Amino acid sequence: MPDQVTPDQLTDEKIMAVLAQVKDPEIGRDLVSLGMVKTIEITGSVVDLTVELTTPACPLKAKIESDIVDGLSSLGATTVRVDWASNVKRSFGGPAADLIPGVKNTIAVASGKGGVGKTTIAVNLAVSLARDGARVGLLDADITGPNVPLMMGTSGSHVTGAGGRVNPVVAHGVKMMSIQYFLTGDAPVIWRGPLIHSAIQQFLRDVEWGELDYLVVDLPPGTGDAALSISQLIPLTGAVVVTTPQEVSLLDARKAVAMFNKVNVRTIGVVENMSGFICPHCGTEHDLFGTGGAASLAREFDLEVLARIPLEPGVRTGGDAGTPITSPQHPAAEASVAAAALREMARTVAGRISVIAAPFAAAASARPN
Ligand SMILES: Nc1ncnc2c1ncn2[C@@H]1O[C@H](COP(=O)(O)OP(=O)(O)OP(=O)(O)O)[C@@H](O)[C@H]1O
Ligand SMILES: [Mg+2]
Repeated sequence: MPDQVTPDQLTDEKIMAVLAQVKDPEIGRDLVSLGMVKTIEITGSVVDLTVELTTPACPLKAKIESDIVDGLSSLGATTVRVDWASNVKRSFGGPAADLIPGVKNTIAVASGKGGVGKTTIAVNLAVSLARDGARVGLLDADITGPNVPLMMGTSGSHVTGAGGRVNPVVAHGVKMMSIQYFLTGDAPVIWRGPLIHSAIQQFLRDVEWGELDYLVVDLPPGTGDAALSISQLIPLTGAVVVTTPQEVSLLDARKAVAMFNKVNVRTIGVVENMSGFICPHCGTEHDLFGTGGAASLAREFDLEVLARIPLEPGVRTGGDAGTPITSPQHPAAEASVAAAALREMARTVAGRISVIAAPFAAAASARPN
């Protein structure tokens, strides 16, 4: 820690020296070498800083802020104000990403078994990241059972566009595409693999996604065509595998993790959904399906349990009404334990992606222009 000095001796150099000791805990490097300190303004003993994070959904913002304040206080600053900016880095490059030139990161939400809450997790992940200020897309890759439009309140929407380009449908701050937006009525889509593949390819290539920090992809259950198509068509930053605590769900989740391993897609971690039920009347937690199953799966594959989301009536009503529980418009959003867990989950995922992207960002900035 530097020696205590009087405030009038505060200089940019001294402040930078202190900030060079403050680490981004997730990436494990200091703020100065990561280029995160953008501006410093000194007014007497008051210091105003702009710090650029690698994601607006930074899970460790509070820790970074308190480390900055502690460091600069010991230098004599009486007030430290941090203005946060963000610049999400790309986690892949090369020709494989040509189909989605404006997209910086892609997250596939998958499970082995149906009905465990993939779409619920994908929708709330997307809404939470957008609420934290990220630019987010949500691709419904469940061609034969598209549920994203219902859960995002856009069932009646249809696509617009011109010249072979298609505009995404926007709700809750998220840009979306789904086969549902092309259909009229409830006619089922009964398509084989090659058609599913070309639909997903068009959703990636022909949709005006623009600049996106995160593209979340909601996959159908299992290890079938859509998951393979996505992993062949675009680079995936990683997969989030959803499971419920029961053994049957875990058994199938193992297959999903194994499939991603086989196609060289990293699994970012496991989400245990419907993990305990909190009684809305007495507040007691009941183990309807058990808890902790994801932990054993995570141990087996050396993965992280990213979140445990309780079973909560508001999550289902939010899905049915098209107002996700993490949206401020959901009537139970404020008090919901599940909403808090889902928002925390989104920040954890964003944090892990920043770590994955860090070496790519360093390599990109080292390349000559
Ligand atoms: N934590 C939860 N609490 C309460 N209800 C939930 C929770 N998670 C999901 N649900 C409800 O469970 C049902 C199934 O969820 P969802 O559709 O997200 O699963 P899925 O894995 O995407 O299903 P499919 O395999 O058919 O695509 C939905 O009605 C949803 O609202
Ligand atoms: Mg689904």
